[in-house]
Amino acid sequence: MFTEDGAQQPFSAAAGTHRADDRISPGKEGRGLQRLNPCSIIGSAMTKVSPSMLSADFSRLGEELLRVERAGADWIHIDVMDGMFVPNITVGPLVVKALRPLSRIVFDVHLMIEKPVRYVNAFADAGADILTVHTEAEGEIREAIKAIKDRGLRAGISLNPGTPFSAVEKYLDEVDVLLVMTVQPGFGGQSFREEGLPKITAAGRYAEECNPGLEISVDGGINRETGRRCAEAGATVLAAGSYLFRMDDMASEIALWKTFGKD
Ligand code: DX5
Ligand code: ZN
Repeated sequence: MFTEDGAQQPFSAAAGTHRADDRISPGKEGRGLQRLNPCSIIGSAMTKVSPSMLSADFSRLGEELLRVERAGADWIHIDVMDGMFVPNITVGPLVVKALRPLSRIVFDVHLMIEKPVRYVNAFADAGADILTVHTEAEGEIREAIKAIKDRGLRAGISLNPGTPFSAVEKYLDEVDVLLVMTVQPGFGGQSFREEGLPKITAAGRYAEECNPGLEISVDGGINRETGRRCAEAGATVLAAGSYLFRMDDMASEIALWKTFGKD
């Protein structure tokens, strides 16, 4: 949990609902809203949904953020690409900082960049809540995870479809989130790749035995059918871009997804 001055307290996986004392004080000048503490929704009984802003209308990002929040999303997934780790380039800390005052929703920032430790402070200052780095990225990944935790943020580790589960196992007692990629990172709108499912199952087993608070997130090609299958395999967070943003009624879709794996 976090105190009002933003200092991190021992983590409790049991909390499942938002309460006034779960909110992070703005802390930084210029933040108009108090933010939800990511811990407060870790361990929730429902599957969480983290819509990916990669599929939002970038000319109206602020409105899109509010649309997603109103639709009942738990987290918002922000994809950061550097043109090196992946062939695409998206957004950086400036965009995160611009969006931060608009909403207190948890900012789930997915760093698809080389040497991620270089940008931990910039994204922390910008208002990220969760920072996820890739095991395949150049640079000292353990150092990046430590830097994220030292800033009081939640840390995540991610792996690509071609990377075996054993490559991330060594980090799983240090992180709060495992992000299983079910497409090759870089672009939205690709088809779901099945290789992710056994990794989700293995992660679920690991979490049960060693780290019950671990969030198992899945990202890439998630739709109503693949989302349900991933949640049934043990995913606790569904990150989805193109499918959710195409929905006329995003709220009903998100409400349905929250029941996946629980019925
Ligand atoms: C891909 C990104 C994803 C992307 C998923 O590299 O990490 O978050 O937005 O998009 P969809 O849901 O369209 O596959
Ligand atoms: Zn992503």
